[in-house]
Amino acid sequence: MLNLNNKNLFKTDAYIDGKWISSTNVTPVINPATNQKIADVADFSVEHARLGIDAAYKSQDNWKNKTALERCEILLKWYVLLLENREDLAQIITAEMGKPIVEARGEVTYGASFIRWFAEEARRVYGETIPGHMPDKRLIVLKQPIGVAASITPWNFPIAMITRKVAPALAAGCTFVARPSELTPLSALALAELGEQAGIPAGVFNVVTGADAAAIGLEFCKNKMVRKLSFTGSTRVGSLLMAQSAESVKKLSLELGGNAPFIVFDDADIEKAVDGLLIAKFRNSGQTCVCANRIYVQDGIYDAFAEKLTVAVSNLKTGDGVDESTHIGPLINEAGLSKVETQLTDALAKGAKVKTGGERIAPDQLFFQPTVITDISNDMLFTHEETFGPLAPLYKFKTDDEVIALANDTDFGLASYFYSKDLSRVWKVMEQLEYGMVGVNTGLISSTEAPFGGIKHSGLGREGSHFGLEEYLELKYVCLSV
Ligand code: SIN
Repeated sequence: MLNLNNKNLFKTDAYIDGKWISSTNVTPVINPATNQKIADVADFSVEHARLGIDAAYKSQDNWKNKTALERCEILLKWYVLLLENREDLAQIITAEMGKPIVEARGEVTYGASFIRWFAEEARRVYGETIPGHMPDKRLIVLKQPIGVAASITPWNFPIAMITRKVAPALAAGCTFVARPSELTPLSALALAELGEQAGIPAGVFNVVTGADAAAIGLEFCKNKMVRKLSFTGSTRVGSLLMAQSAESVKKLSLELGGNAPFIVFDDADIEKAVDGLLIAKFRNSGQTCVCANRIYVQDGIYDAFAEKLTVAVSNLKTGDGVDESTHIGPLINEAGLSKVETQLTDALAKGAKVKTGGERIAPDQLFFQPTVITDISNDMLFTHEETFGPLAPLYKFKTDDEVIALANDTDFGLASYFYSKDLSRVWKVMEQLEYGMVGVNTGLISSTEAPFGGIKHSGLGREGSHFGLEEYLELKYVCLSV
């Protein structure tokens, strides 16, 4: 049991129709920093996914018929409760997925910000009137909640990836069933507890915990009562969910994998670019979908940039996230760590050189040193594969056209970054990068107010911003003859 100020936040049962439901089947939740079990959480599958969907369906009318202001006020209470319990929520995040505590506090604030934003947006779901095509015709467009929405979310942001989906859904008047990662269910259950305290009625927000992601996911896809599915995770699973949802013609939001280029041009402010890369590459120990994966540095500043980055990265402290001074926590599991090792081994065999890091810290632990490597070639694995760990490969390039072609030579199109002080180059490169998001002279682009999402194999739809609300609304066109 975790040492929380508010013990009520430590929940291990699923939350369905306003009730906490236990099971004799449980899934252990393991702290990746210590390898210790911190909880046994109810392990449910299809039957309870259906119960969650039924509850959401049953409570749909009541919730959507509330005024926007009533929904807004409940959401705002939820937002305040998240902030009041920020420290406990951060401790839960760090315990179940290893993120440094300073970042975990940031995640709670970030996650809560989606609830506030969409609470405010709930009151601005404006329809339209359109000039009629005939003298007696009046054309009206209504925006209405799509119905029951479901989510499947990953472990890397166990609170923010849920609030980014549930907040717009509830604001729009939809009801919701969440299936959190089996690695990080405690944060989601704490969210549900705070939602109940905020006055979210029974059945409006349900959390179904269970290790069988495939079975629960299939039920979400096939069940006709679910009108919207929002998923954050790999492109492989996203495309499977898309195929499985075809029969029920479900509306989908898919926030999938990335392979972000981070380009530093000769005219960039090198110090600023190094600081930006520390965030874009090493935030969450390199485990975000928007992490810089391929770092392209122009030949005139390559050596200077590599030296400064090496010094900065060698100063990053790796350790248990509960320590306030930790910058890099553990990777989530053995599979995550071994992917980093495989990519590094492949790169070294093809001529890469380690500037700093390069080692697993201990064979029985999940810590990997933050690593910078140079002498990179395009045949190395990370050129086409997401790393999801603290490994920074520095490619060298000569011309703008060359680097734009390299940056776009991927199936992914989520985030991209570049540094330059030349306005005309900034404009040209920004337009030419084939990505849903571009950071210019910054390594941190995520924000509640901005549309987060990708193109190509990185997914469909946008989260956050006023666009994020549209994902949970349907248009109804009314043709009125007067
Ligand atoms: C993600 O990794 O999917 C989300 C990262 C973010 O919101 O910044």
